[in-house]
Amino acid sequence: MNEVWLNGRFLPADAANVPVFDRGFLLGDGVYEIVPVYSRKPFRLDAHLARLQHSLQGIRLANPYGIEAWRKIALELAARQDFADQSLLIQVTRGVPLPGQPLRDHAFPRDAAPTVLVFAQPLVPPAEAQKAAGVCAITAPDPRWQRCDLKVISLMANVLMRQRAVEAGCAETIFIRDGLLTEGAASNIFVVQDGTLCTPAPSTHMLTGITYEVVLELAARHGIAVRVGEVTEAGLRSADEIWMTSSTKEIMPVVMLDEMPVGNGRPGPVARQMDALYQQFKQDVMRR
Ligand code: PDD
Repeated sequence: MNEVWLNGRFLPADAANVPVFDRGFLLGDGVYEIVPVYSRKPFRLDAHLARLQHSLQGIRLANPYGIEAWRKIALELAARQDFADQSLLIQVTRGVPLPGQPLRDHAFPRDAAPTVLVFAQPLVPPAEAQKAAGVCAITAPDPRWQRCDLKVISLMANVLMRQRAVEAGCAETIFIRDGLLTEGAASNIFVVQDGTLCTPAPSTHMLTGITYEVVLELAARHGIAVRVGEVTEAGLRSADEIWMTSSTKEIMPVVMLDEMPVGNGRPGPVARQMDALYQQFKQDVMRR
């Protein structure tokens, strides 16, 4: 049986329970991280833990553990799974109000202990055939709040928009806010325009992906021209290439946008180059 970490200890998944009055359940009051793990080694764990800290600070919840404690939990949990490549989920909620306090009140409860859950699922990277074919995407006005830089568990807008994509036979919904590209419902978006890789700059309108950061580092290291800044809706629609990036999807070419071909309708050369660099980088990190 694969184990999970809940509030200070490892236990079998089917023995792990959270009370019904947990604010994560009642109010979506919490944050999360998803860390890819290859051969039981977490990828860019420190960056994920830094983003977790940023999210916790953003919702004014104290980090229950220090970096070393988190690192130990992640490594130990990864070791306790019977599959080697994992998608590790870390979730921290504002917990359960202590007796004598309202069971459900928007305002913070006093002195509640956070609920901390960490579990792993098997990670299946995208198949070569899918990367070679690419995926399609749709666009929609960005319906979310003004703090999309926080990885919060209240994901209603993202859930509905991802589902809209799935029902359109697509992989992702790409958001447009005030005429500008922000990101996907569960991914960051890059475009290639005349050989230059373009992507929005980090802001409160998007989550700064760890994959996004790796892609920008690799582009800089390998001399790929990059422009980080505004990408207009027109720029998106006329791009030679569009990619979505995330820890689980890696670098995935988008070949159809709103039923129109992107570029020549096939994954482009810059996507192929970046995917090769990314796969090599992953290998290098795992060997280290
Ligand atoms: N999603 N933007 C949003 C809204 C996301 O949900 C994600 C990741 C990203 C990419 O971040 P990263 O490269 O660190 O995975 C950008 C994860 C995988 C999820 O919630 O399923």
